[in-house]
Amino acid sequence: MKVSVIGAGNVGASCAEYIAMKNFAAEVVLLDIKEGFAEGKAMDLMQTASLNGFDTRIVGSTNDYSKTANSEVVVVTSGIARKPGMSRDELLGINAGIVKSVTTSVLEHSPNAIFIIVSNPMDTMTYLTLKSTGIAKNRVIGMGGALDSARFKYRLSEALECPSSEVGGMVIGGHSDKGMLPLTRLATRNGVPASEFVSEERLTEVLEATKVGGATLTGLLGTSAWYAPGAAVSAVVQSIICDQKKMIPSSAYLEGEYGLNDVCVGVPCIIGKGGIESIVELDLNEAEMAKLKDSAAAVQKNNEAI
Ligand code: NAI
Ligand code: 2OP
Repeated sequence: MKVSVIGAGNVGASCAEYIAMKNFAAEVVLLDIKEGFAEGKAMDLMQTASLNGFDTRIVGSTNDYSKTANSEVVVVTSGIARKPGMSRDELLGINAGIVKSVTTSVLEHSPNAIFIIVSNPMDTMTYLTLKSTGIAKNRVIGMGGALDSARFKYRLSEALECPSSEVGGMVIGGHSDKGMLPLTRLATRNGVPASEFVSEERLTEVLEATKVGGATLTGLLGTSAWYAPGAAVSAVVQSIICDQKKMIPSSAYLEGEYGLNDVCVGVPCIIGKGGIESIVELDLNEAEMAKLKDSAAAVQKNNEAI
């Protein structure tokens, strides 16, 4: 199975590394527009193979899409990242042009690929990919919820004073500080509601810390984060390649689900070899539904701008 990652920067290289370490793909192609950059990252990563014990072949390419031919999955991370103080929406104009040209080039060589869109503002880039390529909606997955849910579980584990592996939780809605909706009501520790262990006030703190998870890291790092984003992308790729059918909150094109139409926004999706195989409709309460609708409306406003 072949996976291509467009953009060999922080997130692209990190996700290539996690895919290789998990050893489920035969080949990962890293492609970047910067001369020699992807080749360098690929060579550096390949020199970890004997140390880390993986057999995945990682290949670099400077803008030569023929190297990506016949990829089953293509991850799009190309574009610019947030700097401290910037919102994801400020990346809209420049990243829209990049995502549109990249996805067109990919399809010339991999007409059946499933796309995972990472470039920000991710929900709008997912919508743009769907509309500009015309491919089926199950083949365009926006990655945001996998990352935001991992950040949510990290914050929950702090509050519950337990390992993240014992925590269950999901974040739906748009991948933005204001738009995302960590579902504290449904969060659990080993199946027991989180609210049985901590107060509502503490859960609200968890919710707020999750929402600014990306901004907090951007402030600390001077650019946006890459380890958790890379790991989150690799989990989505693995669910497709290994047909795991995991339920991963992802930005999906909605046609009536949750009462929303013609928008890509984060909802729980079953991810398998067909890409988005189905959308899970949770029984949200009135307040949660209102927040999801507001979030979708904000994404739709961005969509109109492109
Ligand atoms: P980065 O700057 O480290 O890497 C981006 C790479 O894209 C660069 O190497 C650049 O040369 C390349 N690139 C630019 N134009 C290109 C083109 N036309 N063709 C091929 N490559 C091209 O940035 P980083 O940190 O990897 O972030 C990438 C994107 O992912 C940003 O838009 C960022 O906001 C977004 N992001 C999204 C997340 C999510 O959860 N959806 C999480 C983290 C980042
Ligand atoms: C993140 O959440 C900025 O989308 C990027 O880290």
